[in-house]
Amino acid sequence: MHSLGNSIRKGWYSLVANPETARRQWAGQYWQDADGFRNISCAKCPKLDEKLKICRIPFGTPLRKCVVAGIEAHLHEAKGKNILELGFGRFSLAKNLVTRSGGIWTGVEPHQPKDKKPEIGRGGYGHTEDIPFADETFDMVFGIQTLEHWGQKCTGAAMAPSEYEACFDEILRVLKPGGTIYLDAPIHFHGNEMFIMGDIERIKNHFPGDQWRNLVVERWRYDYQPLERYAPYAKLYEEWEEEITSYSGEEVEKVKQNPIWLLTISAEKRIP
Ligand SMILES: C[S@@+](CC[C@H](N)C(=O)[O-])C[C@H]1O[C@@H](n2cnc3c(N)ncnc32)[C@H](O)[C@@H]1O
Repeated sequence: MHSLGNSIRKGWYSLVANPETARRQWAGQYWQDADGFRNISCAKCPKLDEKLKICRIPFGTPLRKCVVAGIEAHLHEAKGKNILELGFGRFSLAKNLVTRSGGIWTGVEPHQPKDKKPEIGRGGYGHTEDIPFADETFDMVFGIQTLEHWGQKCTGAAMAPSEYEACFDEILRVLKPGGTIYLDAPIHFHGNEMFIMGDIERIKNHFPGDQWRNLVVERWRYDYQPLERYAPYAKLYEEWEEEITSYSGEEVEKVKQNPIWLLTISAEKRIP
């Protein structure tokens, strides 16, 4: 998936991203309600090519295709909004949709040079546990494939693991009352143990009802047919061994039998 062709298609896709196309594609109810979740089954996803039985997103792993679809469904309407992206890395699809739909995009990323200060309208160094902006600055805060890494033990680089509580305190601090959040994370893939194990209740505990309302949890690719199964594989297990300390070996073995899927969370900061 890291081939040159894939990178070119990925870059091109972000370059030509059009919020109006995304708005039209995701205007209807694209999910099915099930057990307190919104399921986006591949069979009914607007991105499915029904004839060829493939996802029409032309790059990435099955998981990355869902990430792209989730971004298009959630981030195509930003008119007049001041929006912060956490952990933007090098993927600019969300930024392009935000700015092209009339929003102001700002980003913080721990892998940016430390002397590159983020300013409203541009990205720079920063991380979720210490967001370098004043209280109640943003209408929306979002993060793509970053949440699962904040509290990961083996960060492999720049910074020590963050405490999730401190991260969510910071997000609440910089969000305006009534402001919204959008986060996605892979389940049964990597990162902090609660994401590897798919412990959704533990993840949801970070959104207490006295601070957040209208919590919506989506499961993308949880029902993957008619597309292929995308399952955890041996190369991931080394990291799992380091990350997982609160669950039994038996529980971990069970999880290895589950398919990988994408979790998205959106919620609104309560108005006091
Ligand atoms: C898998 S990459 C995803 C990057 C990009 N959002 C994307 O979708 O391709 C995870 C990103 O999260 C960033 N990250 C890790 N810990 C973070 C933290 N505590 N606060 C903000 N970003 C963090 C990493 O530096 C990295 O860029």
